[in-house]
Amino acid sequence: MSKKIVVITGSPRKSGNSFAMTEAFIQAAEAKGHQVTRFDAAMKNVGGCRACETCFKTGKACSFDDDFNTLAPAILEADAVVFTMPVYWYSIPAQIKGVIDKLFSLVVGGKDIAGKACALITCCEEDDLSVMDGVRIPLERSAALLKWHMAGEVLIPGVLNVGDIEKTDGCRQAAALADKI
Ligand SMILES: Cc1cc2nc3c(=O)[nH]c(=O)nc-3n(C[C@H](O)[C@H](O)[C@H](O)COP(=O)(O)O)c2cc1C
Repeated sequence: MSKKIVVITGSPRKSGNSFAMTEAFIQAAEAKGHQVTRFDAAMKNVGGCRACETCFKTGKACSFDDDFNTLAPAILEADAVVFTMPVYWYSIPAQIKGVIDKLFSLVVGGKDIAGKACALITCCEEDDLSVMDGVRIPLERSAALLKWHMAGEVLIPGVLNVGDIEKTDGCRQAAALADKI
């Protein structure tokens, strides 16, 4: 069955490792007939959550209008939300953290968002898988709180420079993730 998938990226490197995996995922998902909406957070303007709790009261998800408000309707409609990002300082890059923080608006706004699938594609320089805990654990816990189920994770260590992902099976794993959505 064709699904609506929102893919949210967090790297500023258009030819980078997480983008290569993102593209492999999207290609595989579209080949399966899924409808993909992509949001490259690093190329958009999304601020942090101001915790004003006026979400959706002005007709938009966030009262502090930015590009999150163009993404929110797609998330509301989506069957699956896929986050892709590198590890920055053992954590989630600032570029995508604003988007994740603004998911709060869907909760405060009382939106019916339970039951979506969620997935993660991430990578880092160091060879230790636990380096990705700072991305993986917050995402898993946030998904649980939102009542989204984790459909799959692609965690690729040992990639630093543009092109390094080609020395791993990261793109193959990202393409295979499409089978789990
Ligand atoms: C600001 C910054 C912080 C980073 N912090 C880490 C880190 O804490 N641990 C790590 O293993 N790699 C770290 N890296 C390396 C990236 O995770 C790695 O280069 C990754 O492949 C980049 O993915 P991209 O090509 O999709 O941007 C950092 C890179 C940058 C630019």
